[in-house]
Amino acid sequence: MEIDVITLFPTMFEGVLNESILKIAQEKGRLQVRLHQLRDYSNDPHHKVDDRPYGGGPGMVIKPEPVFAALRDVEGRHPSIAKGRRLILSPQGRVLNDEFAQELSQEENLLLLCGRYEGFDERVHQGLDLEEVSVGDYVLSGGELAAMVVIDAVTRLLPGVLGNDQSIASESFHEGRLDFPQYTRPFDFEGRRVPDVLLSGNHERIRHWRENEAFRKTYEKRRDLVDFDSGGERNSEPTV
Ligand code: ADE
Repeated sequence: MEIDVITLFPTMFEGVLNESILKIAQEKGRLQVRLHQLRDYSNDPHHKVDDRPYGGGPGMVIKPEPVFAALRDVEGRHPSIAKGRRLILSPQGRVLNDEFAQELSQEENLLLLCGRYEGFDERVHQGLDLEEVSVGDYVLSGGELAAMVVIDAVTRLLPGVLGNDQSIASESFHEGRLDFPQYTRPFDFEGRRVPDVLLSGNHERIRHWRENEAFRKTYEKRRDLVDFDSGGERNSEPTV
């Protein structure tokens, strides 16, 4: 996947992109991220990209010219962007969840536009075909952290990125339920012991225990994720 990010703070991405899974994904050639400085597209002698809002009020608004210029230039240099999706990070957008991340992970290209200040001039929204994406119902100081959340959530779903693709199938939110509890050594930690079933060697019993625990956790912590009362694979309360 190729991801182009247009931002006023490209250096914010460096630490995140150069560690752990995101670093490995780039080394494996599964992910390429190109960072573009919005300020470079300003036609102002001082590289200003914002101005005061018409009608008054606090804060500054990002001007349309640098955003249009950045998009046109980046798309001109990387025509494959046209095949993918163009997203703008905003608390007003569709909230990212596992299903949305899965959907985005099918794309070959993503373009992410990060905002700051009081937002973009409305003509950015009117003139550019951008999908708004939010990472939750709270306001961040800008779109950069949200863009990194999108990049991380999507990259780990790309084939071949995680060592074992099965780990996606067993983790939280996959099929709308939380992950089952995991244990490792020691067997006894300060009097808390690993459940006997996990040492039984009986794979069918282990599978059944894990499935039940996953449903129990989902039922206790995030009942909103699964409609336990109607349809679905399971319509009874978990056995506790
Ligand atoms: N920019 C500011 N807050 C945001 C949010 N919650 N999601 C995406 N972008 C944002």
